[in-house]
Amino acid sequence: MKSEFIADVYHAAAEISKTTGYRPKLGMILGSGLSSLAESYECTKVPYGDIPVLPKPTVEGHRGELYINEDIAICSGRFHYYEGHSPDNVVSTVALLKGLGCERLIVTNAAGGINTGFSPGDIMIIEDHINHLGFNPLMGPNPQIDGTDLGARFPDMSRVYSPAFAAKAQELDGDLKQGVYIAVTGPSYETPAEIRAFSAMGADAVGMSTVPEAIFARYLGMEVGGLSLITNFAAGLGHEELHHDEVVEIGRKAADRMKKLVAGLVDWWLKE
Ligand code: 6GU
Repeated sequence: MKSEFIADVYHAAAEISKTTGYRPKLGMILGSGLSSLAESYECTKVPYGDIPVLPKPTVEGHRGELYINEDIAICSGRFHYYEGHSPDNVVSTVALLKGLGCERLIVTNAAGGINTGFSPGDIMIIEDHINHLGFNPLMGPNPQIDGTDLGARFPDMSRVYSPAFAAKAQELDGDLKQGVYIAVTGPSYETPAEIRAFSAMGADAVGMSTVPEAIFARYLGMEVGGLSLITNFAAGLGHEELHHDEVVEIGRKAADRMKKLVAGLVDWWLKE
């Protein structure tokens, strides 16, 4: 991460805080098909296009929006590595949320189920992750603001995802899965051989996001909670080919349950 880039993002965040008057403590990033989760909150909406420091949308990437009120800031729309975005740009949403004042972050995504006990529609609490992207968002100079390092050069990653968040989620919805998320670049889905390999590595679900954001948030000292919506069986485990439409469709159907869970977690994490 370049010092100049994070300084620019923090500056943009400060401008948003100034115009809206909001300094929310909780941030959230929404995954594919989960943008309806933002609609539960009465917010001021800021299109990403009005925040010029954020990367330009690509062909596949729909232009996103920041939802913000006094409690919460939600990034509806994230930047994926497979779109061709640089690592800095992939984590720009996290920098924005941190710059707005967020100390806690909820990350959500749509993922393929590797664990044979998982079915489409299941919600998995992310317990830990495997970074299989081939880059780390902290590579490069350790960024500084006003001569101070933003975080440790070699930050600890032994507890990325908050156990308290996981415990609360289990309490709110008695039927949650829990497991390890592996991030790959995409955009092609995996082969069955890759899925067998990832299973042997200890992964329960696979997707193309979230891990750089979680690493960067932990580096910045944020607490992180993660939820994966299992939208399909990973390659070789189901009977059908994988299609993006199916990922989006399951997301819509499971959105109500996810909405309830996230609402409970948001209420709790704002008071906790
Ligand atoms: Cl099966 N793989 C990847 N990489 N991302 C996904 C997925 C599978 N299902 C939803 N997102």
